[in-house]
Parts: sequence; structure tokens; C-alpha cells
Amino acid sequence: MKKIYNFSAGPACLPNPALKASKSAVKDYKKSGISILEMSHRSAPIVELFDDTTQNLINLLDIPENYSVLWLQGGASLQFSMVPMNLLPSDGTADYIDTGSWSAKAVIECQKFGNVNVVGSSKDSVYSYIPKNVVTSEDASYLHITSNNTIYGTQYKSFPEIKNTNSYLVADMSSDILSKPIDISQFGLIYAGAQKNMGPAGVTLVIIRKDLLDINLRDVPTMMRYKTHSSKDSMFNTPPVFSVCVVNETLKWIQSLGGLKEMEIINERKAEKLYTEIERNSLFKSPINKEDRSTMNVPFVFLDKKIDDKIFLDYCLNRGLTTLKGHRSVGGFRASIYNAMPEDGVDALIEAMQNFEKNY
Ligand SMILES: Cc1ncc(COP(=O)(O)O)c(C=O)c1O
Repeated sequence: MKKIYNFSAGPACLPNPALKASKSAVKDYKKSGISILEMSHRSAPIVELFDDTTQNLINLLDIPENYSVLWLQGGASLQFSMVPMNLLPSDGTADYIDTGSWSAKAVIECQKFGNVNVVGSSKDSVYSYIPKNVVTSEDASYLHITSNNTIYGTQYKSFPEIKNTNSYLVADMSSDILSKPIDISQFGLIYAGAQKNMGPAGVTLVIIRKDLLDINLRDVPTMMRYKTHSSKDSMFNTPPVFSVCVVNETLKWIQSLGGLKEMEIINERKAEKLYTEIERNSLFKSPINKEDRSTMNVPFVFLDKKIDDKIFLDYCLNRGLTTLKGHRSVGGFRASIYNAMPEDGVDALIEAMQNFEKNY
């Protein structure tokens, strides 16, 4: 069979060892004779799986003791609402930086619970850069950012500093969690849908500073309170056991490569080669400000707008390079090169770009 490289933005490619282990868990989990899909979440092997997954995440991200790790459902999109519901008083203000469609959606949800101050936006230039030196509101409960913008391909290289000691950073890290080491203590809360860099859809990670669990501002529905889930170790109701199993196998794979420092080196090397080719190739260009370019999602377009994108997409597809179409709001191409995209896949894409240039 021809080797296929899947450049999808999410759900995205997963590491082979994680897929293999997950396949075996579906057949017969830990020699129990039954599939993980059939097991009660109250059973000892599954409680152990959740503990192990949480511990593996703590080890990889070096999460301090004053943080709780939650495995939730509802996707990153539910976090757009859960964050303000739990953390923003109705007469309070939250600062948001608007770096793309996902941040804009988070703003809309927050406005339903309190006041939003958009303290920075790159909308004026089709989100091609990360706004810097933003001035935060004096009384803001928190500052919300999207650390990596999946659609536009921008990424924070350093996070904004907050001077007000009562305030804290909240980050949607759906598309770059586990791509590099981060200092968790800079954040009050981090959330991420799993289906890009961590596992399959169905589970959403929340890392929350423990003191924020006790904020009690309004009558939040039980399932939407962080405290509900932290007090039951993410087992208040039936959790997405299989998704968590795949996440755990993915975490073990990252650890086997040498952890997040090594992952960062690999990711930077892959991104650097691809951006270098985009710059060199006479047919393509990157629409993104150089210093803000994402190591995870790499959009590029034809310099000559008259060339039909489909010609290059078909050319790639014939070579086993799939899902390279840019998001419908941007057009062109987008190569999502998350942790699990092998370097060979990036090399194959570069070779396709070079051959296309020669033959076009
Ligand atoms: C940065 C970012 N935030 C939020 C979302 C929405 O995630 P979900 O589909 O898990 O709600 C996505 C999905 O692509 C995303 O890339």
C-alpha cells in the first residue's frame, strides 16, 4: 500500500505506537478478556488508566501540585462558556485577545456572562500576526488567549505578562498543547480539545489552578462546574474512556521520544524546513508574519492567484499527501504538522513542492 501522510488540522494523524496499543485495547484490554469499550469506568483497570494518564501528563508538562487535571467532554467549544461561567462575575470584566475565529467564538460566549474587553486583535490583517504589548484592563478577572491559531497559522512564542496579581492567563491550547515545554505557573487555566496533538476527539483537557475551583459566582449547572469534575477525579458521569486510553498511549509515545524538550526540537526542525521551502519556491508564499509563524499549522498560498489550488492539491493527493486544503475562510493550502506527523511526511511535501515547481 502507498504510504499516506495525513496533514489534517484535526482530528489529525496519531503516532503509530499509540494506534497499535489502542487497537489491542479494543480487542482485549490488559488481558481481561474484554474490550476497553465494554468496561465500566468504575472498574479498577479504568480508574488506574485515568490515574496513569493524569500522572503521565503531570510528568510531561511538569504541572505543579497546586493545579488539577480534568478530563472533560464538550470539546474546546464548551470551554468558551465554562471559563466565564465559572470564573467571571456578571459585573466583572475579562480581557480577550482576538487572534482568529476560535478566539472570536470565545469572546461571543463570554459576552453572555460578563463584560469583555478585546485588548488586542489582528483581524485587520486577516489574523496574520499576534498582537504584542497589549495593555490589559486594571480590573480584569483574567486574560484569554489562543496560544496557536489552527486556521491562520500564528502562534505565541512568548505569553503576555499580567501585572495585576489578582488576574491570570487563560489559554486555549487546543492546537499546540504538548508541542513544547511550557511554564504552567503562568496560567490560571489551560484547556485543549484532544483531537490535534493529544489523541482522538471526545475528550478535552483542562488544567486549572486549585484555588480557582472554589470561586462560586452563580448557579452553574452541575456538569459545567469545574469543582464537580475535580472532586470526582473526572468520573462524575461516564467519561470518554477510550479517548483517554488513546491520549495515554500518545503521552507514553512522547515520553519515549525524550519528552517535550525533544518534541520541541523535532517540531522546530520540521517547521523550519517547510517554511524555508515556502520562501525559496517561486510559486508559493506564506501569508503569516515571520516571527509569529506556527510550528503546528503551516498555511501557504500561490503567489499567482490565477493558478487553481486544485491542481496542486491533486498533485499532492497522487503522491499520498492528503488533507492539504486551506481552511475555507483562508483558501490556499495548510499543512498541519503536529507531533505525530513524521519528518518523512514533511520531506515528502517539500519534494512535491519542488517537483511541482519544476514541472508546472
Ligand atoms: C484553537 C482551537 N480552539 C477551539 C477549537 C474547537 O474545538 P472543539 O471542536 O473541540 O470544540 C478548535 C478546533 O479546531 C481549535 O483549533
